[in-house]
This record gives sequence, C-alpha cells and structure tokens, in this order.
Amino acid sequence: MANNEQTLVLIKPDAMERGLAGRIIARLEERGLKIVGVKLLRIDEALARRHYAAHVEKAFFPGLLRFITSAPVIAIVFQGKDAVEAVRQSMGATDPLKAAPGTIRGDWGLDIGRNLIHGSDSPETARVEIGLFFRPEEIADWARDTDRWITEP
Ligand code: RTP
Ligand code: MG
Repeated sequence: MANNEQTLVLIKPDAMERGLAGRIIARLEERGLKIVGVKLLRIDEALARRHYAAHVEKAFFPGLLRFITSAPVIAIVFQGKDAVEAVRQSMGATDPLKAAPGTIRGDWGLDIGRNLIHGSDSPETARVEIGLFFRPEEIADWARDTDRWITEP
C-alpha cells in the first residue's frame, strides 16, 4: 500500500514568481515520484483557511494567508513509495535556514515565510488535503512502465 502512497504538493507563490516551478517539480519527478494529478489555481481565502486550518490561530497566519493567495500555485498529487516522507525529505525543514543543502528549501530559500513548497505531513493529512484540491475523477491512478525500475515489485 505504501508503494502507492499519495501526497499533496503545492508549488507556492514565491516559487511561481521566481520561475522555479519546473525545477522543483523535476526534482520530485526525477526521484521517482509519479504525477497523478495536477492543476494551476489561485487559492482563495476560504480554501487557505481550510488547507491551513491547523494554523489559523497562529501569529503568522495573516502573513501566511496573504502570501498563499498572492499568486497562482500549482497543486500536484505525487504517488509512490512512502511519498509523504519522500517529499518532506526533498523539501527540507520548514525554515529554509535550517533546511539541509541539497533540499529544495535549503537550496533556494532563506525565509520561513517564503519556503517555496508545501507537502502533506502525514498520509491522513494527505487524504484530507488532496480532497480539498481535487475531485476523485481528477486523479489518474496510472501504472507507469518505469515504476518497476524505481520500486521493487
Ligand atoms: P507546509 O505546511 O507549507 O508544507 O510547511 P510545513 O509543514 O513545513 O510547516 P507548517 O508548520 O505546517 O507551517 C505552515 C507554513 O506556515 C508558515 N510558517 N511561518 N513565521 C513563522 O514562524 C512560520 N511558521 C510557519 C510557513 O510558510 C510554513 O510553510
Ligand atoms: Mg505543514
């Protein structure tokens, strides 16, 4: 089951403005994760409040709300072995200053409020978040010929 785990990634407004979307997506795709859903959208306040429901009371929430609604994002469902953990590793720590070099945030970020990418933090959260951004029929659960060269069947 974990071989087919799904996770939600958001290419955040800063990555879109800086033209880093393609390079960020490429890193995850090249690692072996498979795209099974993708869309460009502008997150509105209602969706932001649902997606970041855990943070609505935090002091940083107003800034986070302004930021995440400030430009279109690309929402992607990646699928693969332990996809949630794999994406979190590739993203690096929330604060780019603490993110290891070689991670997306560690290589391209400096500020916690401009950290380029979102990834679900657990399989349960992933299910909820995917449901916020995608209808079931928008997910293509396809078998890729190269999957057997990435994960031992
Ligand atoms: P994300 O949800 O965006 O993938 O990031 P994360 O799991 O690494 O971090 P999380 O704790 O869920 O925080 C969500 C987003 O809120 C902003 N934040 N700002 N100024 C601050 O202290 C602060 N703390 C968090 C970041 O944009 C973080 O990605
Ligand atoms: Mg989070």
